[in-house]
Amino acid sequence: MNILILGSGGREHTFAWKLAQSNKLSKLFVAPGNAGTEKIAINIPIGVNDFDAIKKLVLEENIELVFVGPEDPLVNGIHDFFLNDQELKTIAVIGPEKLAATLEGSKEFAKEFMMRHHIPTAQYKSFTSETVEDGFKFLEELNPPFVLKADGLAAGKGVVILNDLNEAKIELKSMLVDEKFGAASATVVIEEFLDGIELSVFVLTDGDSYKVLPTAKDYKRIGEGDTGLNTGGMGAISPVPFADKAFMDKIEQRIVKPTVEGLKKDNMPYKGFIFIGLIKVGEDPKVIEYNVRMGDPETEVVLPRIQNDMVELLKAVANQTLSNIDLKLDDRTATTVMTVSGGYPGSYEKGKEIKGIESIKDSLIFHAGTTLKDGKVVTNGGRVMAITSFGTDFKSALAQSYINVEKLSFEGMNYRKDLGFDL
Ligand code: AMP
Ligand code: GLY
Repeated sequence: MNILILGSGGREHTFAWKLAQSNKLSKLFVAPGNAGTEKIAINIPIGVNDFDAIKKLVLEENIELVFVGPEDPLVNGIHDFFLNDQELKTIAVIGPEKLAATLEGSKEFAKEFMMRHHIPTAQYKSFTSETVEDGFKFLEELNPPFVLKADGLAAGKGVVILNDLNEAKIELKSMLVDEKFGAASATVVIEEFLDGIELSVFVLTDGDSYKVLPTAKDYKRIGEGDTGLNTGGMGAISPVPFADKAFMDKIEQRIVKPTVEGLKKDNMPYKGFIFIGLIKVGEDPKVIEYNVRMGDPETEVVLPRIQNDMVELLKAVANQTLSNIDLKLDDRTATTVMTVSGGYPGSYEKGKEIKGIESIKDSLIFHAGTTLKDGKVVTNGGRVMAITSFGTDFKSALAQSYINVEKLSFEGMNYRKDLGFDL
């Protein structure tokens, strides 16, 4: 079968790498892709939100399945676009329809979903510019720290956590009245602060049954010891050592099952990956957020641990036969270390030649922000390249990733040297 992957990051390179191992794959396309996908697939220079160009490509190349990497096209309704088009409606799309994608597109919508289906999460109230005074009163009733969330997509910057009541009020006003995040902060969710350690659980569903995929923990801050600005993710570890069987059972019974059942009850068709961000509070899991896609760089550690044929898995999702499949996982730990451009997550330069790729041994290389220029691999984004390794535990896997990261070089290259410090 011919398959198209939409996206251009490390997540998409990892999916391309995994799909390319299947003998059920004929041609693999990635739009727009990067220098890593270029080696194993056909890169097509069209954007993930250019639905008309995607349609033309799918028809011309007889593509039978489209895997959607990032959230943007899902929230913009790419799955519905296919279903509503006479020529595209039989093509399988992996990723939820627009309504279910709102679980990531609107924090308020996600909160209401969790309340309706009794899924454990932080207590909250939401406010608009008309109710900003009520928002101030609500903040006065809470204990610090104060958690303020812009309702809509704000490129990962929409959550602000403050210790000071006055600063929280100023922030609330800036979001609601001064439109700090534009339309994304027209509604703000204020919620109870949850104190604990974070992890993510990934679920694959065909809308009827589901498989719980490996857990992962990512490191979002740029600085060592989880300090400094948020990034897309500086590295990840799978499985999460503290997520033992008893804790995973709680996650499945209290969160995964009611989520998949809730999607059915609410008539929100969902064929794809669900990324559930959790905090372990005491011994109990609580949901911080849903994402309607796989994580990046979590994919770089989750997919290498899945032993099933990925074409078969995705076909089973499309045909709603996922319950017939036995998930087979590698018990080893996988870690990934992300190398990033100097200055990221602030401004940074692109086009720096990446050296040392060919000397990497016994690790997997997943390109993120890279492109080819005059036959050379050069940087083309903030997050540049992820190095994934296996080990009997996270320490040995990380040691292997770091040996190989040190062989890579480009001007300004940065990476976190302390992954796993909190485990
Ligand atoms: P989100 O964009 O919803 O993932 O939030 C970004 C980050 O803010 C999360 O990864 C958490 O570290 C933190 N966070 C979000 N909600 C809460 C909460 N209720 N309590 C504590 N930390 C939170
Ligand atoms: N690594 C976090 C994300 O993909 O949203």
